[in-house]
Amino acid sequence: MKHLVTAGLLGAMIAAGSVMPMAANADEMMDNETVETRKMLMDGIGGAMGTLGCYLKGQCDLPDPVVRNLANGIAFAATAAPNAFEPKTMDASVKTTADEKIWSDWDDFANRFPELKKAALAMASVAGDKAAMGAAMGDLGKNCKGCHDEYRTK
Ligand code: HEC
Repeated sequence: MKHLVTAGLLGAMIAAGSVMPMAANADEMMDNETVETRKMLMDGIGGAMGTLGCYLKGQCDLPDPVVRNLANGIAFAATAAPNAFEPKTMDASVKTTADEKIWSDWDDFANRFPELKKAALAMASVAGDKAAMGAAMGDLGKNCKGCHDEYRTK
């Protein structure tokens, strides 16, 4: 009888020991994936901006359709971004600079993405016109900085 109780207790301890950390791990893994998705989305935007900057500085030549695709890519990422940012990621263990304010000021945060999209589409519409692109680049940059200043931790 004593044996059975011990075995039962052990079983319960093993079950608790293995199930509880697994539950924590599942949250952590999901949050980490969410963070990585956001960062990929942002890195895509950053890469496109870098290439557009290279073109505007005359350091690389790009055909107009490529310029348009880069700008449209930013617009597309801006469309996907609110969904990628919506889940809170308290359990993430990977590095994130997403500030808590994103979720307490959600409407302000999320409404910045349609603005970013508008600026990106404006860039796409002037592909090849370097003077107009320079102005569009300035507008785009303001969107990035405005949001990063408010919603990223240093
Ligand atoms: C509406 C808010 C918002 C706008 C607009 C925005 N970003 Fe971000 N960005 C963020 C947040 C929040 C993070 C932090 C994500 C994280 O670490 O989880 C971030 C992170 C980044 C990162 C780092 C990604 C990484 O791998 O850590 C880059 C690069 C970036 N943004 C580029 C840009 C560029 C370029 C623009 C403008 C064309 C832009 N972002 C516009 C909110 C924004």
